[in-house]
Amino acid sequence: MKWVITGGAGFIGSNIAEELVKRQQDVVVIDNFSTGKRENIAQFLNKITLLEGSVTNMKLLQKAFKDADFVLHLAGISSVVSSINDPLHVHDVNFTGSLNVLVAARDAGVKKVIFSSSANVYGNDETLPKREEMYPDIVSPYGLGKLTVEQYCRLFHKYYGLNYAVLRYFNVFGPRQDPHSEYSGVIGIFINRMLKGEPVTIFGNGLTTRDFVYVKNVVNANILAATGNAVGTYNVGCGKEITLNELVFTINKVLNADLKPAYGPERIGDIKYSVASIERAKHELDYDVEVDFEEGMRKTIAWYSQQTPKIVS
Ligand SMILES: NC(=O)c1ccc[n+]([C@@H]2O[C@H](COP(=O)([O-])OP(=O)(O)OC[C@H]3O[C@@H](n4cnc5c(N)ncnc54)[C@H](O)[C@@H]3O)[C@@H](O)[C@H]2O)c1
Repeated sequence: MKWVITGGAGFIGSNIAEELVKRQQDVVVIDNFSTGKRENIAQFLNKITLLEGSVTNMKLLQKAFKDADFVLHLAGISSVVSSINDPLHVHDVNFTGSLNVLVAARDAGVKKVIFSSSANVYGNDETLPKREEMYPDIVSPYGLGKLTVEQYCRLFHKYYGLNYAVLRYFNVFGPRQDPHSEYSGVIGIFINRMLKGEPVTIFGNGLTTRDFVYVKNVVNANILAATGNAVGTYNVGCGKEITLNELVFTINKVLNADLKPAYGPERIGDIKYSVASIERAKHELDYDVEVDFEEGMRKTIAWYSQQTPKIVS
């Protein structure tokens, strides 16, 4: 089968590409390396086709999607903050670029498109767990982009018969997540600092929760969604609330360390509690959590340790 992964040199996309290569699939990666890295795909570059360029380039998409079975659309600007600072640029990539992907996929007769959406569409609504049918609460252009493309997917199915699955990821973590960007996930930042024995700061009292999901589960969800028949919108998480205090505790446990976090003032706009209901994905995609939080943390810390010399005593 031929799979096209937009954003395939990024954190999640490169993990999917690697798994598909292992399964001896035909993989095409489209990436403009704005946040993606060549080293993310270096180990299997000779087994994939890399098309360097942007999803805003329709010609490139048409070339890539020729004879493709599945398109996994991950490319985009993942930062909420940059979407607020530069909505025009984010509109160009996340809205128009995604619409290009759907048009090109429709025209090429692709079997199914899987769109990487986000739990960000649930915004500040305090109802837990988050269920797919909840009314969205849009708090940034980034979230608006995700919701808009979700709706485009639905319309492309309705009017043109294009099959799709929308996957709303919760807080994804794992190997290749960049801990240095100011927009990185908390896990990458904390592990990277704690490995070096540097202090970490928790904003608030540490009881804030997230549904942290190890990247292998997200890889599985993409492959199951593409190869299965279900069409619709699905949460992808673990269905477990983990506090930031537990996160620091787990890193200490794995590192055999006892680093104490500092506590700072709560940040305005931060969502307090978040957890997914994964029932729909379980029933319709046959998705389940293969790697739980603690095992995922062990694998992630092992990976970061190879990148960062370990000096925790
Ligand atoms: N990481 C998470 O926790 C999380 C949570 C929810 C949703 N998501 C979504 O999953 C997707 C992948 O996220 P990630 O964490 O791997 O981020 P990432 O930044 O590592 O990956 C995005 C990739 O898209 C590429 N890209 C950006 N603009 C492009 C363009 N115009 N044309 C082609 N390629 C372009 C980047 O170079 C990068 O390789 C994103 O759509 C993101 O919004 C991620």
